Amino acid sequence: MELYLDTANVDEIRTALEWGVISGVTTNPTLVAKEKRPWKELIKEITSLVPGPVSAEVLSLDYEGMVREARELAALAPNVVIKIPITPEGLKAVKTLSREGIKTNVTLVFSATQGLLAARAGASFVSPFVGRLDDVSNEGMEVVADLVMIIENYGLPTRVIAASIRHPMHVLEAARAGAHIATVPFGVLQAMIRHPLTDVGIKRFLDDWEKAKSSLQG
Ligand code: E4P
Repeated sequence: MELYLDTANVDEIRTALEWGVISGVTTNPTLVAKEKRPWKELIKEITSLVPGPVSAEVLSLDYEGMVREARELAALAPNVVIKIPITPEGLKAVKTLSREGIKTNVTLVFSATQGLLAARAGASFVSPFVGRLDDVSNEGMEVVADLVMIIENYGLPTRVIAASIRHPMHVLEAARAGAHIATVPFGVLQAMIRHPLTDVGIKRFLDDWEKAKSSLQG
């Protein structure tokens, strides 16, 4: 399973790229708004840093507006992927954009049947929101597992991004469910690195080395 970073923060992206663990980035209007920067300039900078797909979301709700915004965003860089919410207008836009060779990530997906529609319309990626489903007492990961099964059953080219990831267990469960990608906030990535036994282990090795140091030299 690939990992994308779910952020619009350039410092977080740089750090995760240095760790060598992410192969793409997803943003949304909430994440971009936090950065308080001209947003197209920000998306362009992110696309120049990341050697993989960078999702940027349209704000229009109507077909014409979505397609216009998508074409403008797609012109920013070859690795821009257009995030479009799953609505009737959104599906129509996905169909048009996929025929133009513009990649799309259908977002705000809360059921496997919504995801199937997105795949049929030609979406490159589909993003089921796990955490937000868990928040309302639904099994978010079941949507991921169902979508992966449907896509594999029919050999569809759409890739499933497990989104709205809240903790490392979500990442583990997404990988077990066969998600192609999980998009994770920076804090979750940091939490995935940490383990108390790793810290204890490093300290013990260094302490043991320190104690025996004099007998190890020369
Ligand atoms: C997905 O691409 C979204 O940006 C994101 O995962 C939403 O997560 P949230 O539910 O934590 O806002």
